[in-house]
Amino acid sequence: MDLAQFVRALPKAELHLHIEGSLEPEMMFALAQRNGVALPWGSVEATRAAYDFSDLQSFLDLYYAGAAALIHERDFHELAMAYFARAHDDGVVHAELFFDPQTHTARGVAFETVLDGLERACEEARERWGISSRLILCFLRHLSEEDGFATLEQALPHIARIHGVGLDSSEQGHPPAKFERLFARCRELGLHVVAHAGEEGPPAYIVEALDLLRVERIDHGVRAAEDAALLERLAREQVPLTVCPLSNVKLCVFPRLEAHNLKQLLDAGLKITINSDDPAYFGGYIGQNYLETAQALQLSRAELKRIARNSLEASFVPESLRAPWL
Ligand code: ADE
Ligand code: ZN
Repeated sequence: MDLAQFVRALPKAELHLHIEGSLEPEMMFALAQRNGVALPWGSVEATRAAYDFSDLQSFLDLYYAGAAALIHERDFHELAMAYFARAHDDGVVHAELFFDPQTHTARGVAFETVLDGLERACEEARERWGISSRLILCFLRHLSEEDGFATLEQALPHIARIHGVGLDSSEQGHPPAKFERLFARCRELGLHVVAHAGEEGPPAYIVEALDLLRVERIDHGVRAAEDAALLERLAREQVPLTVCPLSNVKLCVFPRLEAHNLKQLLDAGLKITINSDDPAYFGGYIGQNYLETAQALQLSRAELKRIARNSLEASFVPESLRAPWL
């Protein structure tokens, strides 16, 4: 069995995937045309050519522009179905999808439109491929706490359909502390909590996410390597890190995959998972992330198995339902 086949055959969970980040330029253009939305690029080719990022913000500017093509319930459904088809091909048995409601409600798209389309795709993915899934509402951290609370208010009538909350968008200058009260309220509501931290931001943001937001997983977290005490804590507490290697290279967190610290984190005893983040923008879905990382860092098959197992253990599926995968 070659490495690609081995990776595909590993039952795995994807725990860090922004559904808006799976919008391929072809679908972006088709939806924009159908919906009468003007895009800043003239063609699919010009769009792909613009995916040359210098940092997180340079990506986010394009990502929010592309998301403007999504208007109707069926758009969100088509988007998520296309993702699930790719995930199934890559051996994903469970996916926890991030979605950014504020990106859509700010343009006049109703919260329910987004949720209905995504949820219908989740149900269809289970029927068609047996993939289980969860939806995680992400708050945009460049917006205010007040805006976050207003979004939570919109989510409340549908709260049973949402499994957790996360924190994404521009990290630098928007520390987790800004959302301490919002996350406390979300925890009171029984929601799972995660946050992006230590992607571009300092290790102190990871500490804040753990201590102030009480997150159950850290999204990215690669800058933890700069703080020995934090590394030791993450290993001791077995806090899962949802690492996205191709994303980190595309956003210049590491100059190339060979320089990524994933193996160092794994060797330090951290509970590492591999994920795709925004695969339409970063050059690969989860399988490609496993494969290229394994090649660049010379990960053994035992290490890849460990990482896939970590992803199942770190998911928000109760242990009793997880058993058949392990
Ligand atoms: N939103 C979508 N992708 C993101 C990333 N990698 N970091 C922060 N916010 C995001
Ligand atoms: Zn992300």
